[in-house]
Amino acid sequence: MKVINVVGARPNFMKMAPISEAMRRYPEQIRPLLVHTGQHYDERMSKSFFTDLGMPRPDLDLGVGSGSHAEQTARVMVEFETVCLREAPDLVIVVGDVNSTMACAITAKKLGIQVAHVEAGLRSRDMTMPEEINRLCTDVLCDYLFTTDHFANENLLAEGISAEKIHFVGNVMIDTLLKHKALAQDLGLLDRWGLKAGGFATLTLHRPSNVDDEGTLEGILRTLSEFGREIPIVFPVHPRTRKMVDRFGLGHYFATTGNPSGLWPTEPLGYLEFLHLNMHAKMVITDSGGLQEEATVLGVPCITLRYNTERPITCEVGTNYVVGNDPDAIIHHTSMILSGEFPPGGIPEKWDGKSAERIVALLRRC
Ligand code: UD1
Repeated sequence: MKVINVVGARPNFMKMAPISEAMRRYPEQIRPLLVHTGQHYDERMSKSFFTDLGMPRPDLDLGVGSGSHAEQTARVMVEFETVCLREAPDLVIVVGDVNSTMACAITAKKLGIQVAHVEAGLRSRDMTMPEEINRLCTDVLCDYLFTTDHFANENLLAEGISAEKIHFVGNVMIDTLLKHKALAQDLGLLDRWGLKAGGFATLTLHRPSNVDDEGTLEGILRTLSEFGREIPIVFPVHPRTRKMVDRFGLGHYFATTGNPSGLWPTEPLGYLEFLHLNMHAKMVITDSGGLQEEATVLGVPCITLRYNTERPITCEVGTNYVVGNDPDAIIHHTSMILSGEFPPGGIPEKWDGKSAERIVALLRRC
């Protein structure tokens, strides 16, 4: 079976790494080809993850880069169509919900190639999120839908997708986390930065709904710079957010000391560095999707700066609080966690480090 594994943006790499590793154990049956669309291209947004995760370099890099949604999606489709025609794969595997995910699923399906979606069925019911559109378009086309939790199965069934296509395999991103946890544990970043375990928070912020509007971004940064007086907040700044902070002139909310204090910005961090920080943090503050899941597995309380989540299992079972971006709500929840008022979370079913193996076992039977 010739399989094209697609990655495009930062959150894809840690999802694909265990799948391509599991496939490489069965060279007689599966011939994988790793295609990077190039949606993310900076060293710190892309290449460093291949090194950290021990992933082979992509066989092909389509180099599409940034652009408007239509431009980026269209460029991926044009380039990926050429690859599919030349390579004639039996199956294309896409992960997550970025523009590259949807673009490659549509392209392959229109060429009559079977498509599998890993992390299928997540729904925020928020059509202002580009990712929600990507998820819906991808899932409706796919032949194999690999899901992470019972909510995803229910969503797909409610949308009329036939049960035979849906496979509850668990969470491949957690395969990667569990594999690298011991390595990340003693990385030494805390010592280097003078941080104490449990004595700091981490922050990530990149959703257009939080960073593209000046008033919203200002409210979040002002609130967190005030909260940062109680506990330092380490903030690896996404390139999109950096651009908006500069455009709106909001850099004065950032601390400029050599060691973490207040709201303390850094360049985007590598996978192991950021895992090291999160596993030792008092709390994680984020608008990311994946980080809600990682915090759950690490048992670290997570404050999600959104009004919805496509990952409700992290609230039902895990450590996640979805609080929105209103300053009062942010302060209420962060202060609550700081004073130790939060119930311990549990681990969702099948988030056990074996999800990629389940996917590959299933594909080998096809
Ligand atoms: C994309 C995904 C989002 C995911 C996020 C993780 C879509 C619609 N969005 O959002 O779901 O959570 O990745 O990071 O696919 N840029 C760089 N260097 C890079 C990549 C991006 O400077 O390597 C800058 C560019 O100015 C670019 C902007 O970031 O225009 C946004 O990049 P883009 O890939 O369009 O979306 P993200 O916000 O990263």
